[in-house]
Amino acid sequence: MSLVPVGQFPAYRPRRLRQSSVLRTMVRETRLSAEQLVLPLFVRSGRRVRQPVGSMPGVFQLSPDELARETGRAHAAGVPAVLLFGIPDRKDARASGAYARNGIVQEAVRLLKKELPQLLVITDVCLCEYMEHGHCGITQRTKSGGRVLNDPSLKLLAKTALSHAESGADMVAPSDMMDGRVRAIREELDKQGFEETPIMSYAAKFASAFYGPFREAAESAPQYGDRRSYQMDAANANEAMREVAMDIQEGADIIMVKPALAYLDIVHRVKTTFGYPTAAYAVSAEYSMVKAAAAKGWIDERAVTLESLLAMRRAGADIVITYAAVEAANWLKEGANSRL
Ligand code: PBG
Repeated sequence: MSLVPVGQFPAYRPRRLRQSSVLRTMVRETRLSAEQLVLPLFVRSGRRVRQPVGSMPGVFQLSPDELARETGRAHAAGVPAVLLFGIPDRKDARASGAYARNGIVQEAVRLLKKELPQLLVITDVCLCEYMEHGHCGITQRTKSGGRVLNDPSLKLLAKTALSHAESGADMVAPSDMMDGRVRAIREELDKQGFEETPIMSYAAKFASAFYGPFREAAESAPQYGDRRSYQMDAANANEAMREVAMDIQEGADIIMVKPALAYLDIVHRVKTTFGYPTAAYAVSAEYSMVKAAAAKGWIDERAVTLESLLAMRRAGADIVITYAAVEAANWLKEGANSRL
């Protein structure tokens, strides 16, 4: 059914509403607000460490003290939430750094919740940064390299999520794409008294070349093979809907679609079909491409960034996760919404 009964409004002239900037702002259908942004951050051990990520200008691997400082700045700019990724000192075949009580993310969460209690701290729950082979689950050697074992990985993921919650995380975000992990995490959290800790599930996560720069940032590139056995084929939209339905059934509170800009049809379909709180993750290469073109003077960084983030909101995202969150929040403070 069309929203516009064509031919029934002979007097309608779009220009009338566009003449006045006041009116134009009043009738805008979508607004971008700093309150909806999440800033992803990378934390590693040490003190006073600000290790630049070459392919992501402005993004750093931060030691906890620097992380607290960076987060303070983001919060002051109006960004209400961060999403934490950890880079452990050592990797092994059981991803033990992912669920260690004194793991890097656990330490960072405790520090942030102490220094900035109002900040919403979300933790990425995955094993790839902590596995020596760089895959998101436990693997078994095969002749051609190895394969990821779904079910044995669930226990470790649940353990990881629990240890994040115990450290004070406000929400956990499983990004591994193992089948059944939302249920495994939900059950473990409930059993241990964290019934109120929400799960933001990377429900529709595509096997994407847009994650390239992230793997440098998180030092999580697979040492052999790729992630196609557990992440989704870019060609499949119906499958994305099935993945989302499954995660909702298993207890996900927020559904995430990732990447964002090349998958806005998925964002839109997820939002209109399920009506669930929906997040879009503007991933590393989406950020890097804008930075690179802007550095060459080929595009207007501010305008391109804000237009892209607005498009994610228009498609149906309630929450937008972006490495440009602080810049966007500052631009929005200057009134960018009405000039976009
Ligand atoms: C971990 C994870 C990845 C991203 C978020 N969580 C990498 C991957 O799946 O390879 C990508 C985020 C980005 O590119 O910004 N599984």
